[in-house]
Amino acid sequence: MKKLAPVLAVVVLIACIAGGWGLAHRPAGEDRRGGLLVGLSLDTLKEERWQADRNNFVKRVAELGGETLVQSASGDDTRQISDVQALISRKVDVLVIVPHNGAAMAKAVNMAHEAGIPVIAYDRLITDCDLDLYVTFDNVKVGRLQAQYLADRLPAGRPLRLVRIYGSKTDNNAFLFKQGQDEVLAPLIKAGRVEVVHEDWAADWKPENAKKITNAAITKAGRNIDAVLASADGVAGGAIQALLEEGLAGKVIVTGQDAELAACQRIVNGTQAMSIYKPLKQLANRAAELAVALARREPILTRTGINNGRTEVPTVLLDILVADQGNLESTVIRDGMHTREAIYPNARP
Ligand code: BGC
Repeated sequence: MKKLAPVLAVVVLIACIAGGWGLAHRPAGEDRRGGLLVGLSLDTLKEERWQADRNNFVKRVAELGGETLVQSASGDDTRQISDVQALISRKVDVLVIVPHNGAAMAKAVNMAHEAGIPVIAYDRLITDCDLDLYVTFDNVKVGRLQAQYLADRLPAGRPLRLVRIYGSKTDNNAFLFKQGQDEVLAPLIKAGRVEVVHEDWAADWKPENAKKITNAAITKAGRNIDAVLASADGVAGGAIQALLEEGLAGKVIVTGQDAELAACQRIVNGTQAMSIYKPLKQLANRAAELAVALARREPILTRTGINNGRTEVPTVLLDILVADQGNLESTVIRDGMHTREAIYPNARP
Protein backbone atom coordinates (compact mmCIF):
# COMPACT_ATOMS: atom_id res chain seq x y z
CA MET A 1 0.00 0.00 0.00
CA LYS A 2 1.34 3.43 -0.78
CA LYS A 3 1.76 5.87 2.04
CA LEU A 4 -0.85 8.57 2.40
CA ALA A 5 0.38 11.44 4.46
CA PRO A 6 -2.03 13.46 6.51
CA VAL A 7 -2.93 16.83 5.09
CA LEU A 8 -4.13 19.28 7.67
CA ALA A 9 -7.01 21.15 6.22
CA VAL A 10 -7.60 24.65 7.48
CA VAL A 11 -11.26 24.54 6.69
CA VAL A 12 -13.86 22.83 8.82
CA LEU A 13 -14.90 19.62 7.14
CA ILE A 14 -18.41 18.35 7.29
CA ALA A 15 -19.06 14.64 7.31
CA CYS A 16 -22.53 13.40 6.57
CA ILE A 17 -23.81 15.58 3.77
CA ALA A 18 -27.45 14.57 3.55
CA GLY A 19 -28.16 12.60 0.40
CA GLY A 20 -24.58 11.34 0.13
CA TRP A 21 -25.63 7.84 1.10
CA GLY A 22 -29.02 7.84 -0.53
CA LEU A 23 -30.55 8.86 2.79
CA ALA A 24 -33.74 9.89 1.11
CA HIS A 25 -34.35 6.18 0.55
CA ARG A 26 -33.26 4.88 3.92
CA PRO A 27 -34.12 6.64 7.15
CA ALA A 28 -32.09 5.50 10.19
CA GLY A 29 -33.36 2.49 12.10
CA GLU A 30 -36.20 1.96 9.63
CA ASP A 31 -36.48 -1.79 10.28
CA ARG A 32 -36.39 -1.67 14.08
CA ARG A 33 -38.74 -0.50 16.73
CA GLY A 34 -35.96 0.22 19.26
CA GLY A 35 -32.61 2.01 19.22
CA LEU A 36 -29.83 2.32 16.70
CA LEU A 37 -27.79 -0.57 15.39
CA VAL A 38 -24.04 -0.06 14.91
CA GLY A 39 -21.86 -2.52 12.96
CA LEU A 40 -18.23 -2.90 14.12
CA SER A 41 -15.92 -4.85 11.83
CA LEU A 42 -12.46 -5.52 13.29
CA ASP A 43 -9.31 -6.80 11.63
CA THR A 44 -8.48 -8.95 14.64
CA LEU A 45 -9.13 -9.48 18.33
CA LYS A 46 -5.87 -11.33 18.87
CA GLU A 47 -4.08 -8.26 20.22
CA GLU A 48 -4.95 -6.84 23.60
CA ARG A 49 -5.48 -3.33 22.30
CA TRP A 50 -8.30 -4.31 19.92
CA GLN A 51 -10.12 -6.18 22.68
CA ALA A 52 -10.03 -2.99 24.76
CA ASP A 53 -11.21 -0.95 21.76
CA ARG A 54 -14.14 -3.32 21.24
CA ASN A 55 -15.15 -3.39 24.91
CA ASN A 56 -14.98 0.39 25.31
CA PHE A 57 -16.80 1.01 22.03
CA VAL A 58 -19.66 -1.43 22.70
CA LYS A 59 -20.10 -0.01 26.21
CA ARG A 60 -20.31 3.60 25.04
CA VAL A 61 -22.76 2.79 22.23
CA ALA A 62 -24.96 0.99 24.79
CA GLU A 63 -24.82 4.03 27.11
CA LEU A 64 -26.06 6.11 24.19
CA GLY A 65 -28.99 3.76 23.67
CA GLY A 66 -27.61 1.77 20.72
CA GLU A 67 -26.57 -1.80 20.13
CA THR A 68 -23.34 -2.96 18.46
CA LEU A 69 -22.95 -6.03 16.27
CA VAL A 70 -19.26 -7.04 16.29
CA GLN A 71 -17.37 -9.09 13.70
CA SER A 72 -13.66 -9.95 13.71
CA ALA A 73 -11.90 -11.12 10.55
CA SER A 74 -8.72 -12.67 12.03
CA GLY A 75 -6.54 -10.81 9.55
CA ASP A 76 -8.33 -12.15 6.48
CA ASP A 77 -9.49 -9.64 3.84
CA THR A 78 -12.05 -11.96 2.23
CA ARG A 79 -13.53 -12.65 5.61
CA GLN A 80 -13.65 -8.97 6.50
CA ILE A 81 -15.58 -8.23 3.30
CA SER A 82 -18.10 -10.97 4.13
CA ASP A 83 -18.30 -9.67 7.73
CA VAL A 84 -19.27 -6.28 6.34
CA GLN A 85 -21.79 -7.91 3.99
CA ALA A 86 -23.35 -9.67 6.98
CA LEU A 87 -23.57 -6.38 8.90
CA ILE A 88 -25.16 -4.67 5.91
CA SER A 89 -27.73 -7.43 5.62
CA ARG A 90 -28.54 -6.95 9.33
CA LYS A 91 -29.38 -3.35 8.30
CA VAL A 92 -27.00 -1.53 10.63
CA ASP A 93 -27.45 2.24 10.69
CA VAL A 94 -23.71 2.96 10.54
CA LEU A 95 -20.57 0.90 10.01
CA VAL A 96 -17.29 1.29 11.90
CA ILE A 97 -14.33 -0.55 10.37
CA VAL A 98 -10.81 -1.30 11.60
CA PRO A 99 -9.42 -2.55 8.29
CA HIS A 100 -6.87 -5.33 8.09
CA ASN A 101 -6.06 -3.97 4.66
CA GLY A 102 -6.85 -0.31 4.13
CA ALA A 103 -6.90 -0.64 0.34
CA ALA A 104 -8.99 -3.82 0.19
CA MET A 105 -11.68 -2.38 2.45
CA ALA A 106 -12.58 0.36 -0.08
CA LYS A 107 -14.88 -2.28 -1.56
CA ALA A 108 -16.67 -2.63 1.79
CA VAL A 109 -17.18 1.15 1.98
CA ASN A 110 -18.68 1.16 -1.54
CA MET A 111 -21.01 -1.73 -0.64
CA ALA A 112 -22.16 0.06 2.50
CA HIS A 113 -22.82 3.27 0.58
CA GLU A 114 -24.89 1.40 -1.99
CA ALA A 115 -27.04 0.27 0.94
CA GLY A 116 -27.24 3.87 2.26
CA ILE A 117 -24.98 3.20 5.27
CA PRO A 118 -22.26 5.69 6.30
CA VAL A 119 -18.81 4.35 7.24
CA ILE A 120 -16.23 5.43 9.83
CA ALA A 121 -12.64 4.15 9.60
CA TYR A 122 -11.49 3.42 13.15
CA ASP A 123 -7.78 4.07 13.84
CA ARG A 124 -6.65 2.82 10.40
CA LEU A 125 -7.42 4.70 7.19
CA ILE A 126 -9.39 3.11 4.32
CA THR A 127 -7.96 4.40 1.07
CA ASP A 128 -9.33 5.31 -2.36
CA CYS A 129 -13.00 5.54 -1.48
CA ASP A 130 -15.53 8.13 -0.32
CA LEU A 131 -15.02 7.36 3.35
CA ASP A 132 -17.31 9.45 5.58
CA LEU A 133 -15.16 9.91 8.67
CA TYR A 134 -11.81 8.83 10.15
CA VAL A 135 -11.15 8.72 13.90
CA THR A 136 -7.57 8.04 14.95
CA PHE A 137 -4.49 9.05 16.92
CA ASP A 138 -1.71 11.27 15.61
CA ASN A 139 0.18 8.39 14.00
CA VAL A 140 3.08 10.43 12.58
CA LYS A 141 3.69 11.78 16.08
CA VAL A 142 3.78 8.18 17.39
CA GLY A 143 6.74 7.49 15.08
CA ARG A 144 8.42 10.78 15.95
CA LEU A 145 8.24 10.10 19.70
CA GLN A 146 9.55 6.54 19.30
CA ALA A 147 12.57 7.75 17.33
CA GLN A 148 13.13 10.78 19.58
CA TYR A 149 13.38 8.40 22.54
CA LEU A 150 16.42 6.85 20.84
CA ALA A 151 17.77 10.20 19.65
CA ASP A 152 17.89 11.27 23.30
CA ARG A 153 19.98 8.20 24.18
CA LEU A 154 22.75 8.13 21.56
CA PRO A 155 26.06 6.62 22.68
CA ALA A 156 29.04 8.95 22.93
CA GLY A 157 31.73 8.75 20.27
CA ARG A 158 30.15 6.13 18.01
CA PRO A 159 26.89 5.58 16.10
CA LEU A 160 23.85 3.93 17.65
CA ARG A 161 23.53 0.54 15.95
CA LEU A 162 19.85 0.22 15.17
CA VAL A 163 17.43 -2.48 14.00
CA ARG A 164 14.17 -1.11 12.59
CA ILE A 165 10.99 -3.23 12.63
CA TYR A 166 8.10 -1.69 10.74
CA GLY A 167 4.50 -2.92 10.83
CA SER A 168 2.20 -4.53 8.31
CA LYS A 169 2.39 -3.16 4.78
CA THR A 170 -1.40 -3.54 4.49
CA ASP A 171 -1.86 -0.95 7.28
CA ASN A 172 -1.49 2.72 6.30
CA ASN A 173 -0.54 3.47 9.91
CA ALA A 174 2.67 1.44 9.51
CA PHE A 175 3.82 3.96 6.88
CA LEU A 176 2.84 6.92 9.06
CA PHE A 177 4.83 5.55 12.01
CA LYS A 178 7.81 5.10 9.70
CA GLN A 179 7.34 8.62 8.33
CA GLY A 180 7.50 10.10 11.84
CA GLN A 181 10.53 7.95 12.71
CA ASP A 182 12.29 8.99 9.48
CA GLU A 183 11.79 12.68 10.25
CA VAL A 184 13.86 12.27 13.42
CA LEU A 185 16.34 9.66 12.20
CA ALA A 186 17.25 10.93 8.72
CA PRO A 187 19.49 13.78 9.93
CA LEU A 188 21.12 11.52 12.54
CA ILE A 189 21.83 8.82 9.95
CA LYS A 190 23.26 11.47 7.63
CA ALA A 191 25.49 12.79 10.43
CA GLY A 192 26.76 9.27 11.22
CA ARG A 193 25.14 9.28 14.68
CA VAL A 194 22.82 6.36 13.84
CA GLU A 195 23.62 3.29 11.76
CA VAL A 196 20.71 1.12 10.63
CA VAL A 197 22.14 -2.41 10.70
CA HIS A 198 18.94 -4.16 9.61
CA GLU A 199 15.33 -3.22 8.78
CA ASP A 200 12.22 -5.06 7.65
CA TRP A 201 8.40 -5.07 7.68
CA ALA A 202 6.64 -7.47 10.08
CA ALA A 203 3.84 -8.95 7.97
CA ASP A 204 0.43 -8.69 9.69
CA TRP A 205 2.13 -7.12 12.73
CA LYS A 206 2.88 -10.65 13.96
CA PRO A 207 5.32 -11.08 16.89
CA GLU A 208 6.76 -14.23 15.29
CA ASN A 209 7.68 -12.21 12.18
CA ALA A 210 9.40 -9.60 14.38
CA LYS A 211 11.30 -12.40 16.11
CA LYS A 212 12.54 -13.65 12.74
CA ILE A 213 13.59 -10.12 11.74
CA THR A 214 15.52 -9.72 14.99
CA ASN A 215 17.18 -13.12 14.54
CA ALA A 216 18.16 -12.09 11.00
CA ALA A 217 19.58 -8.82 12.38
CA ILE A 218 21.70 -10.69 14.92
CA THR A 219 22.93 -13.10 12.26
CA LYS A 220 23.85 -10.16 10.02
CA ALA A 221 25.21 -7.64 12.51
CA GLY A 222 26.27 -9.80 15.44
CA ARG A 223 25.41 -9.06 19.06
CA ASN A 224 26.62 -5.52 18.71
CA ILE A 225 23.14 -3.94 18.56
CA ASP A 226 22.16 -0.92 20.65
CA ALA A 227 18.47 -0.54 19.90
CA VAL A 228 15.44 -2.07 18.22
CA LEU A 229 12.96 0.50 16.94
CA ALA A 230 9.86 -1.71 17.07
CA SER A 231 6.76 0.09 15.83
CA ALA A 232 4.30 -1.52 18.31
CA ASP A 233 4.24 -3.65 21.47
CA GLY A 234 3.27 -6.89 19.70
CA VAL A 235 6.33 -6.76 17.46
CA ALA A 236 8.45 -5.50 20.38
CA GLY A 237 7.44 -8.69 22.22
CA GLY A 238 8.67 -10.83 19.32
CA ALA A 239 11.94 -8.90 19.11
CA ILE A 240 12.50 -9.21 22.87
CA GLN A 241 11.93 -12.98 22.67
CA ALA A 242 14.79 -13.19 20.15
CA LEU A 243 16.97 -10.92 22.34
CA LEU A 244 16.23 -13.09 25.41
CA GLU A 245 17.39 -16.20 23.59
CA GLU A 246 20.68 -14.42 22.81
CA GLY A 247 21.11 -13.07 26.34
CA LEU A 248 20.68 -9.53 25.01
CA ALA A 249 17.34 -8.58 26.56
CA GLY A 250 17.70 -5.58 28.87
CA LYS A 251 20.96 -4.58 27.15
CA VAL A 252 19.25 -3.30 24.01
CA ILE A 253 16.82 -0.35 24.01
CA VAL A 254 13.49 -1.56 22.58
CA THR A 255 10.60 0.77 21.72
CA GLY A 256 6.92 -0.07 21.35
CA GLN A 257 3.42 1.34 21.16
CA ASP A 258 0.00 0.67 22.78
CA ALA A 259 1.08 0.29 26.43
CA GLU A 260 -0.23 -3.29 26.46
CA LEU A 261 -0.09 -4.97 29.86
CA ALA A 262 2.76 -7.30 28.83
CA ALA A 263 4.70 -4.28 27.50
CA CYS A 264 4.19 -2.35 30.74
CA GLN A 265 5.50 -5.39 32.64
CA ARG A 266 8.52 -5.50 30.33
CA ILE A 267 9.08 -1.77 30.91
CA VAL A 268 9.15 -2.44 34.65
CA ASN A 269 11.62 -5.32 34.32
CA GLY A 270 13.75 -3.38 31.84
CA THR A 271 13.52 -5.56 28.73
CA GLN A 272 11.49 -2.88 26.91
CA ALA A 273 12.37 0.79 27.32
CA MET A 274 9.21 2.59 26.30
CA SER A 275 5.82 2.36 24.72
CA ILE A 276 3.38 4.91 23.38
CA TYR A 277 0.35 5.46 25.56
CA LYS A 278 -2.72 5.85 23.39
CA PRO A 279 -5.83 6.65 25.43
CA LEU A 280 -7.96 3.89 23.87
CA LYS A 281 -11.03 4.72 25.90
CA GLN A 282 -11.04 8.27 24.51
CA LEU A 283 -10.78 6.94 20.97
CA ALA A 284 -13.53 4.36 21.46
CA ASN A 285 -15.83 6.83 23.20
CA ARG A 286 -15.31 9.46 20.53
CA ALA A 287 -15.87 6.95 17.73
CA ALA A 288 -19.00 5.58 19.43
CA GLU A 289 -20.44 9.07 19.89
CA LEU A 290 -19.69 9.99 16.28
CA ALA A 291 -21.11 6.67 15.04
CA VAL A 292 -24.35 7.31 16.89
CA ALA A 293 -24.48 10.87 15.52
CA LEU A 294 -23.93 9.60 11.98
CA ALA A 295 -26.54 6.90 12.52
CA ARG A 296 -28.95 9.67 13.46
CA ARG A 297 -27.88 11.47 10.30
CA GLU A 298 -26.55 14.46 12.25
CA PRO A 299 -23.83 16.55 10.56
CA ILE A 300 -20.34 16.21 12.07
CA LEU A 301 -17.79 19.00 12.02
CA THR A 302 -14.05 18.27 12.12
CA ARG A 303 -11.07 20.62 11.89
CA THR A 304 -8.80 18.19 10.10
CA GLY A 305 -8.93 16.36 6.81
CA ILE A 306 -6.74 13.51 5.63
CA ASN A 307 -6.42 12.70 1.97
CA ASN A 308 -7.13 9.02 1.35
CA GLY A 309 -6.23 9.11 -2.34
CA ARG A 310 -9.83 9.82 -3.38
CA THR A 311 -11.10 12.52 -1.07
CA GLU A 312 -10.31 14.72 1.91
CA VAL A 313 -11.76 12.59 4.71
CA PRO A 314 -13.05 14.55 7.73
CA THR A 315 -10.78 13.36 10.53
CA VAL A 316 -10.67 13.42 14.31
CA LEU A 317 -7.07 13.12 15.60
CA LEU A 318 -6.30 12.33 19.25
CA ASP A 319 -3.02 12.97 21.02
CA ILE A 320 -0.61 10.38 22.46
CA LEU A 321 2.24 10.26 25.01
CA VAL A 322 5.46 8.39 25.69
CA ALA A 323 5.08 5.81 28.50
CA ASP A 324 8.19 4.57 30.28
CA GLN A 325 9.37 3.66 33.78
CA GLY A 326 9.01 7.31 34.83
CA ASN A 327 5.30 7.78 34.11
CA LEU A 328 3.35 4.49 34.10
CA GLU A 329 1.66 5.65 37.27
CA SER A 330 0.45 8.95 35.81
CA THR A 331 -0.65 7.51 32.46
CA VAL A 332 -1.92 3.93 32.14
CA ILE A 333 -2.56 3.38 35.87
CA ARG A 334 -4.20 6.76 36.52
CA ASP A 335 -6.46 6.36 33.50
CA GLY A 336 -7.49 2.86 34.57
CA MET A 337 -6.01 1.10 31.54
CA HIS A 338 -4.15 -1.37 33.80
CA THR A 339 -4.01 -1.69 37.56
CA ARG A 340 -0.80 -1.14 39.52
CA GLU A 341 -1.06 -4.72 40.83
CA ALA A 342 -1.31 -6.12 37.30
CA ILE A 343 1.77 -4.24 36.12
CA TYR A 344 4.15 -4.62 39.04
CA PRO A 345 3.97 -7.98 40.88
CA ASN A 346 3.71 -9.92 37.63
CA ALA A 347 6.59 -8.14 35.93
CA ARG A 348 8.32 -10.69 33.75
CA PRO A 349 9.75 -10.83 30.24
C1 BGC B 1 -2.32 0.50 15.41
C2 BGC B 1 -1.43 0.10 16.56
C3 BGC B 1 -1.36 -1.42 16.63
C4 BGC B 1 -1.03 -2.02 15.28
C5 BGC B 1 -1.07 -3.53 15.32
C6 BGC B 1 -1.87 -0.16 14.13
O1 BGC B 1 -2.70 0.22 13.09
O2 BGC B 1 -2.32 1.91 15.27
O3 BGC B 1 -1.93 0.63 17.75
O4 BGC B 1 -0.38 -1.83 17.54
O5 BGC B 1 -1.94 -1.56 14.32
O6 BGC B 1 -2.34 -3.99 15.58
